[in-house]
Amino acid sequence: MSWGPARATFSIFLTLEDIKKASEETNNVSPILKLVSEARSKGYDNVCLPLTTDKWRQRWTEMCIQTMEGDDHKHDMVAEKRAEDWRSGPAFMKDEVTMTRLDEAEGITVMISEWLELDATDDWVRHDAEIALRQEVSYASYLNIQNVILPPPRNRSHVASYARIVSSCLRNTAFLNFSIRLPIYNPSFLRAETPASPLLLSGQPDTSQSSALPTLLLPDSAPQSILSTPEGEVNATWEMWDVIRSICDYDTRLTLALDSTLPLPKNLDVLKKWAAEPIRHIYTPASAFITNTKGYPVLPKPTQAFIRDSMLAKVNAGLHNRGGEPAYAQYMRYLEKTSPAVQAEQRTGTVEHFAQGYHDYLQAPLQPLMDNLQSMTYQTFEQDPVKYAKYEEAMYRALLEWPATTERIVCCIAGAGRGPLVARCLKAAERSKRNTQIYAVEKNSNAFVTLQERKEKEWGDRVKILFGDMRQINTPEPVDILISELLGSFGDNELSPECLDGAMRFLKPDGISIPSSYTAHLAPLSSSKLYNEARSGHEQKCLETPYVVLLSAVNILSDNGGGLRGQCGPQIQECWEFVHPRRDVVLDSRGLPLTNSHNVRHAKLNFHIPHAGILHGLAGYFEAVLYGSIGLSIHPRRKDQVSKDMLSWFPLFFPIKEPLYLPSNSELQVSIWRLTNERQVWYEWHAEAFLAIPASSIVASPLSGVSGGRLGTSVSSASLPIASPLPSASALSPLVDAVEPFSFRFQGYHASGAGTSSEVPEVGYDIIKIGHTSLHNPGGRSNWIGL
Ligand SMILES: C[S@@+](CC[C@H](N)C(=O)[O-])C[C@H]1O[C@@H](n2cnc3c(N)ncnc32)[C@H](O)[C@@H]1O
Repeated sequence: MSWGPARATFSIFLTLEDIKKASEETNNVSPILKLVSEARSKGYDNVCLPLTTDKWRQRWTEMCIQTMEGDDHKHDMVAEKRAEDWRSGPAFMKDEVTMTRLDEAEGITVMISEWLELDATDDWVRHDAEIALRQEVSYASYLNIQNVILPPPRNRSHVASYARIVSSCLRNTAFLNFSIRLPIYNPSFLRAETPASPLLLSGQPDTSQSSALPTLLLPDSAPQSILSTPEGEVNATWEMWDVIRSICDYDTRLTLALDSTLPLPKNLDVLKKWAAEPIRHIYTPASAFITNTKGYPVLPKPTQAFIRDSMLAKVNAGLHNRGGEPAYAQYMRYLEKTSPAVQAEQRTGTVEHFAQGYHDYLQAPLQPLMDNLQSMTYQTFEQDPVKYAKYEEAMYRALLEWPATTERIVCCIAGAGRGPLVARCLKAAERSKRNTQIYAVEKNSNAFVTLQERKEKEWGDRVKILFGDMRQINTPEPVDILISELLGSFGDNELSPECLDGAMRFLKPDGISIPSSYTAHLAPLSSSKLYNEARSGHEQKCLETPYVVLLSAVNILSDNGGGLRGQCGPQIQECWEFVHPRRDVVLDSRGLPLTNSHNVRHAKLNFHIPHAGILHGLAGYFEAVLYGSIGLSIHPRRKDQVSKDMLSWFPLFFPIKEPLYLPSNSELQVSIWRLTNERQVWYEWHAEAFLAIPASSIVASPLSGVSGGRLGTSVSSASLPIASPLPSASALSPLVDAVEPFSFRFQGYHASGAGTSSEVPEVGYDIIKIGHTSLHNPGGRSNWIGL
């Protein structure tokens, strides 16, 4: 299956055998056109086939491999001359390629000769494989082919050579898309006996079908952790991909063709990293299917879970006794239809339905204080049924705090926009049977016209509208309940704290603010898609700017474990909080804060990274307590409990300029600051990576504490101000009743006493620094929010 912009497309993979058979059955008709038309009638969207025939493989092997053989390595000078001729002018003979005409090649995805070893140990084989690849790429371009699938890398020691060759192909072509075929994990983990390369190990070309799984050769010098742990084995193919795409500088024409032939492990956690990678095709041969009780082909449960969208199927007749060939495509379409994400997208009222087309689309955050919002923008906000229902409930409960006999409760909507909260306040007043006077303050002169119209037609005297900035104007009388919605995806990033500081002047000393508080939250993420989107602006500032984005092709790198030292916090961590009303601020004669220093914040968060991955940025979320237990949340673990199906906010994405490799079981310390001067507010962010290793494995330094770039175990959690392990991500939220199960997976014991279990061995840990990012957006040079 292949990922298109909207839906998965299903392709059939045709083998050389299929093409040979079709050419025997056709006279003058092109066998390729016949096969394409048959595939379409069976329900496939596209066709994938090898570009070259066995004839080419045979000639290349004779020229480039067999001349190197023989006991005394005597060169066959005739063959060598042929090879040299070919190297000086690489070209195909007609019967060495499967297609010769433009109409045959239309819409076809081609497999580059799978037997080409771009990462062969032998320099000559590698050299000649590169020439052969260029020849195939050039021929594919000649036929106007758009997508090619490259043979998989097989040799971890020479993956850099493989990557260099791919990078040069990318440079030398303008429109061709390259996908690298890779097994989801290292198959040698399961099938150690499979030869790494039929060419190199036997010298005899393997004539078996090209579905044979590539087996990965790991270097002898590979760290023990890679060779001996299942995690290392599982990671090995991803690590190769990481080297390739880094050497190719994250080229957007380079994607993955994941091979799902192997049975997948039940626990898919370690495979989640693929979600953050640019997968274009998933290859699923008929042999990956099992037979259900009725004899039809179905995929094993973990594979179903991994690919619920699309695949590139290679159909072997006769493997399953019911349904015939169309059953494979029908089954994959069924998987797509029953995918929870696809189903949610089709249901109106869901975030998925509302957000179609917004996945991974970077948007500049709104600046409603500095800019005047458009009517269309307000209209989009107003489609959110959940946010306004939550506000109405919060206002209703706040109104009930006053006795029913109260003569008048004064409410003020600060930043009323086109008036939806005013309307909800009126409803809350009706429901609570409280007598209210409502003031609506708005500084957007255009929206103020709509407010005037609504007052005239709907609200009458029950509402008084006031034009101006809440930091400057006065309400005619002190207010009991101040209601505002000035929240951004990170809580405070639309300057709610600063605006509400100004509005506190007209709130009575015992008055209520809705919201009463809000918090900002962060998690480290990997996403080559977002990284590429952010840097496509080609300016430094693009990678130092936070974006609003519906996160989709993203893998959150952290988990809820405490890490080896037991010092890490939960998967998503709280940065800071703002509370309203805040009564401890020094005010000037107008009732405004003398400076904005009280709104400066800093957080240092420590994340455990269980599986190796690349840090591309940070995901930012917020939670707000409106009143009592009524709140709003976009925190991924809590949003469904607090404000399910709320549409108004997508998360924030803080990019990282230089992707940072984080090994399995590492720790990531993230520092983030909210800073301000008289005119602006901005964020700065920075991250450092550490590895925890048993203390005994480091030569003791005569100086305790920091030595040679490492922090010693003697550093207590007090002197290393990182978040200590927290009992539960949700226990911190006043909005959530239930406590989520949370367990640390201590693999050791930290001398400073963070882990207290007597069952774990007493191993102290040192942490060694392994990398860091630069400081992003210093002084707000690339991005700031105007006050
Ligand atoms: C996010 S919108 C919310 C509008 C509306 N309450 C709603 O929920 O649809 C924030 C509104 O506050 C207004 N606003 C922002 N800062 C303000 C300020 N300092 N004084 C008055 N209005 C302000 C903006 O113009 C905008 O209309």
